[in-house]
Amino acid sequence: MSKFKRHFFICQTQRPPFAKPSCGQRGSAKLVEAFTAELNNHPELWNEVQVTASGCLGPCFDGPSIVVYPEATWYAGVKPDDVKEIVESHMIGGKPVERLLYKWPTT
Ligand code: FES
Repeated sequence: MSKFKRHFFICQTQRPPFAKPSCGQRGSAKLVEAFTAELNNHPELWNEVQVTASGCLGPCFDGPSIVVYPEATWYAGVKPDDVKEIVESHMIGGKPVERLLYKWPTT
């Protein structure tokens, strides 16, 4: 069992312009910066929440993508302006931000 309550993985895959879309092309590096800056304001979370830059998570066409474990909450299309809300609602309050949840396509 992890020592963290929640672990946020943020896709940082960067593909070249001629390839399949990637979160890196859509600004995911700025997203990691925004989480780092916001968490700096919340030292009470440092032992409870982990944020890790990751490779591709799957929803490449809809990124930047984030998955949160252990509950497997998926976010997509997240922007730096959304980070404060995610920190306050999900990391502190335990409630995912509904409007940013990723809906996996059904086949
Ligand atoms: S490139 Fe980010 S989910 Fe695939």
